[in-house]
Amino acid sequence: MPKLLPAVRPLLLCLTALAATSGMALAEDTDTADLVARGRYLATAADCAACHTAPHGGTPFAGGYAIDTPLGQIFSTNITPSKTAGIGDYSEADFSRAVRDGVAKDGSHLYPAMPYTAYAKITDADMKALYAYFMNEVKPDDHKPQQTELPFPFSIRTSMAAWNLLFLDKTRFEPNPAKSAEWNRGAYLAEALTHCATCHTPRNGLMAEDGSQPLAGGAVGPWFAPNITSDKIAGIGDWSDEDLTQYLKTGNVPGKAQAAGPMAEAIEQSFQHLPDGDIKAIVTYLRDVPPVGSGDKKARDTFGEPSTEIEASLRGLPGQAPNENGFHVFSGSCAACHQPEGQGNLHYPSLFKNTATGGDRPDNLIATILYGLHRTVGENVAFMPAFGPDASYTDRLSDKDIADVSNYVLANYGNPAVKVSAADVAIIREGGEKPLIVRLAPLAAPAAIAGAVIVVALIAWLLLRRRRSPQATA
Ligand code: HEC
Ligand code: HEC
Ligand code: HEC
Repeated sequence: MPKLLPAVRPLLLCLTALAATSGMALAEDTDTADLVARGRYLATAADCAACHTAPHGGTPFAGGYAIDTPLGQIFSTNITPSKTAGIGDYSEADFSRAVRDGVAKDGSHLYPAMPYTAYAKITDADMKALYAYFMNEVKPDDHKPQQTELPFPFSIRTSMAAWNLLFLDKTRFEPNPAKSAEWNRGAYLAEALTHCATCHTPRNGLMAEDGSQPLAGGAVGPWFAPNITSDKIAGIGDWSDEDLTQYLKTGNVPGKAQAAGPMAEAIEQSFQHLPDGDIKAIVTYLRDVPPVGSGDKKARDTFGEPSTEIEASLRGLPGQAPNENGFHVFSGSCAACHQPEGQGNLHYPSLFKNTATGGDRPDNLIATILYGLHRTVGENVAFMPAFGPDASYTDRLSDKDIADVSNYVLANYGNPAVKVSAADVAIIREGGEKPLIVRLAPLAAPAAIAGAVIVVALIAWLLLRRRRSPQATA
């Protein structure tokens, strides 16, 4: 430093310091901007908006979306940084505890309709980014959404503490060094963020994911998320990489599958916005998921062919009653779009070589007829009207009509071994098969004590088993 008058020196030092701090502030700004951008991307991949935004134009993240669960409706909460209605006074630690441990700031337990069992795998660095995004970019909204009120005994949120002890694995994602970087990127996306398993892994009687058969197919309310393991018949082992990529990005692979219900929502809100590299990584990961077979002889995307054998179906297949009503419902309600021979056209999918009609369960066929299909990807809107409770009066079909038309479609275009009764349709209309704990719920009061004993015994057994397993494998 050149010689300066003593009075000027402190001033200059002061100026230098000022320049340095403003430089630091600038660096901090870009750090925060990077963090917020990363958080925005993570929120999209993890599909937070899908559940935390009310349908039909609700404010993003202000909650109020009703999730139909076998226990009853669970309403999502307001996760905007509002101090009165949202998470405005959540610290990063509070936020992280809610998202990864399923415990709200006031200590109450969240229901696993919030997929914290998957988010538990999100890394600390990514939690920081998500928090930065919610606090800095999401607009606060003071609207208080409807409260969740489940019937007893599910109203007791503390029971989730026992459930978590049994089923919540708090291990964060760790890359597997034996696998490629792309596989690891796919594994992190699929397991922690996009949470494929919360829908595609079967659940046990206590509604927890069955870890012994990951992605082997699970019920999501009235819908069924099929087996997407690498098995060539029961899973997606016979799909090409291009098929899988196109399905995840658009939800439509002609001659194979269309996405309706919760899968359509995931594609619409999340997957279509992911970079191509992410989708490629997820596909790489899916290819490597251990196959889980089903005993089926034919893959669900290979059934059927164009059929005009109306005579045969009117007479009924050998040993089967005639299905005249099914034919009439099909001609009146379906054929205009899917064509009289079920082959579809440029705009409407064929009903043969279609996973919704070739599978070993009719859930998605019935649910699509009841609830229709609505999926917006980019500029393209796929729309099929609902014929269930939300249908316009003239189009509404009874359980028997839906059973008849399903049997007509299955016999002519899909898997003829699958049969649908009006009672099956009623179950899907009511939101799907109830898991064991729900069917047992009416017995809850007298069974509560017995239940507590069983839970304690289960926990003891599980802890013992966990402790033992290292020796068992040694
Ligand atoms: C599949 C639906 C679903 C998705 C996806 C989802 N949430 Fe939730 N979330 C819920 C529901 C439902 C609740 C309320 C649960 C309850 O009342 O027990 C909730 C509760 C919360 C809470 C607790 C809020 C409070 O009031 O204390 C936070 C925080 C939260 N979610 C953040 C997130 C973030 C961040 C994401 C994305 C990374 C996300 N959620 C994705 C359904 C979802
Ligand atoms: C919110 C629940 C949900 C999530 C999350 C979800 N899926 Fe799905 N998925 C479904 C449902 C339901 C279907 C059936 C849709 C239909 O046939 O209309 C489906 C269908 C599919 C299919 C087509 C299968 C077939 O035979 O038609 C593939 C492939 C698939 N999902 C992959 C994935 C992957 C990969 C992820 C994670 C990146 C994922 N899904 C996340 C619910 C979900
Ligand atoms: C107004 C036209 C229209 C009518 C009427 C219609 N559909 Fe559809 N259907 C569609 C469209 C559009 C799709 C989805 C295309 C896409 O995803 O790109 C679809 C998809 C389907 C699927 C595949 C769903 C899945 O989850 O994979 C089935 C099965 C189906 N329709 C059966 C029927 C049956 C049975 C009827 C009569 C009760 C019917 N459709 C009436 C337009 C129609």
